Amino acid sequence: MLSRKVADQLRNYRTPFYLYDIDLLRQTLQSAVSVAERYQYVIHYAIKANYDPRILQVIQEYGLGIDCASGNEVRCAIEAGFDPQTIVYAGVGKRDHEIRYAIEQGIFAINCESIEELEVINAFAAEAGKVVTVALRINPDIDPKTNHCIDTGQADSKFGISYEEVLGSAERIQALQNVRIRGMHLHIGSQIRELHVFEYLCNKVNVIVENLVKLGFELDFVDVGGGLGINYDFPENEPVPNFASVFSIINSHLRVGERQVHFEFGRAIVAQCGELITGVLFNKMTATGRKLVIVDASMTELIRPMLYGAYHNIENITSTSDRHERYTIVGTACESTDVFDENINLPETRRGDLLTIKSAGAYGSSMASRYNQHDLPPSVYSDQL
Ligand SMILES: Cc1ncc(COP(=O)(O)O)c(C=O)c1O
Repeated sequence: MLSRKVADQLRNYRTPFYLYDIDLLRQTLQSAVSVAERYQYVIHYAIKANYDPRILQVIQEYGLGIDCASGNEVRCAIEAGFDPQTIVYAGVGKRDHEIRYAIEQGIFAINCESIEELEVINAFAAEAGKVVTVALRINPDIDPKTNHCIDTGQADSKFGISYEEVLGSAERIQALQNVRIRGMHLHIGSQIRELHVFEYLCNKVNVIVENLVKLGFELDFVDVGGGLGINYDFPENEPVPNFASVFSIINSHLRVGERQVHFEFGRAIVAQCGELITGVLFNKMTATGRKLVIVDASMTELIRPMLYGAYHNIENITSTSDRHERYTIVGTACESTDVFDENINLPETRRGDLLTIKSAGAYGSSMASRYNQHDLPPSVYSDQL
């Protein structure tokens, strides 16, 4: 919870803005890196979660690689100083110029999501006179037990190549001269809180890797994606996600021999260090008796509640009232779905109060838009207050 003193300092900035706790980011990275080292695991940070330059700079200090979802993300990572050899790039619809750029930059691996894409990568690599390292992103058909809007590894999903198709296309794949299949990749979804899901994932990966090796694929690494969830309900109880548990499960269940194991965490690294600070503009009551608090943020700064029905804990950081009321928190955008939360219990809330929308460091500012010609939200860092 933000102290009264910090809340007063925040009044010096025009709302809405993202506030990043750099100490918490460092603690999170330290925890992830120290446990990963124990097992010699490699972590790529999923840059789609947040590409704020200061955040990237801190992440770089801890030696993480980068996981990208577009050519511009690859460019952003390289411009931020990440070594191309630490970059992986997945994406179900890579455009031609993005594939050519990734080949040109010599990134660690392109995570390929269809056989047709593999053939295109092969053709572009041949034109460039290169042999490109590829991981096959396989759809393992696993239910990650999360919000269905953010699951990616069920059989009918657009992501990854079906395992059966890979088995049936082995010879066709192996005939390609300008791609080298060195890895197997999967990512089954995000905000995974039931950690036993990672156990199923390992059991599937063990079988897939064994069969791919039998078919003659020489795999040196297995990338099990990201997905580790965070505590949105009570962020103060769990500011740093439980990396030790997930790595321990993976270590006990994954049977991939000496192959290097890679992860692509986004949310778990940055979600808890960021919050969206917004000012209260107006109060009003609907004809049906709903008390609305209209804040100066909207879905243009943080779209997760409107896009996925995602929950963020909201607190009034300036009210000193002992009286509590039930409020619905709505934004400024010209959309009926522009609601952050409904019927929540807050101390009496008035024009000029500041609210914090917590756990917003991941998929917050990176999904911001300029709809209604709103300005993009600026960043304020805890160590600069
Ligand atoms: C391929 C891939 N890897 C990693 C991630 C990061 O997931 P998370 O933020 O849940 O760790 C995503 C998220 O969409 C993804 O699509």
